Amino acid sequence: MNNSTFVHKYVEPLIGSEDICVDMTAGNGNDTLFLCKRVKKVYAFDISEEAIRKTAERIKDYDNVVLVNDSHANLDKYIKEKIRLFIFNLGYLPKAEQYSVTEASETLKAVQKAYEFLEKDGYIVITFYLGHRGGKDEYYLLTRYLSDSNITIQETYRQDKPDSPVTLILR
Ligand SMILES: C[S@@+](CC[C@H](N)C(=O)[O-])C[C@H]1O[C@@H](n2cnc3c(N)ncnc32)[C@H](O)[C@@H]1O
Repeated sequence: MNNSTFVHKYVEPLIGSEDICVDMTAGNGNDTLFLCKRVKKVYAFDISEEAIRKTAERIKDYDNVVLVNDSHANLDKYIKEKIRLFIFNLGYLPKAEQYSVTEASETLKAVQKAYEFLEKDGYIVITFYLGHRGGKDEYYLLTRYLSDSNITIQETYRQDKPDSPVTLILR
């Protein structure tokens, strides 16, 4: 099972029709589409205009998505409500016209802000990709922050292959 399939299977029983969720890296819109079919409202962030365009096309039959063409580190400019679930699918947009990749310091800011908006029994899910330049640094910076902040990692998922993506389920 790939990491995206794992994430969808894991979070499906945790979200419901009254929830507000955030896709922190909209990309091709797979996570946004998964969420908007199941919850009341979804915010989807991406710094890439191309990603926002692709996501808009994927969710065109739904009217419960707020697309934000800005960094997820600025989430507090757009979100005022408590959030049930944040999904981060880090790395770069595959097959994109322009290379647009998540950066460790910006991701760290976004995770810190996400905790300010998280419901008491909410979840943050982060998938790290270790194979591209900067991917391992992003993983080490974030896992050091989680350990220094005594944040509970409820579950870790990774396939048994070198440099395979790592998904962390956080409370
Ligand atoms: C692996 S892709 C996401 C895939 C997506 N979740 C999907 O289901 O198709 C990573 C995305 O993160 C975006 N990204 C990079 N830095 C970002 C930032 N600071 N804020 C929001 N999105 C960012 C990239 O543009 C790229 O589209």
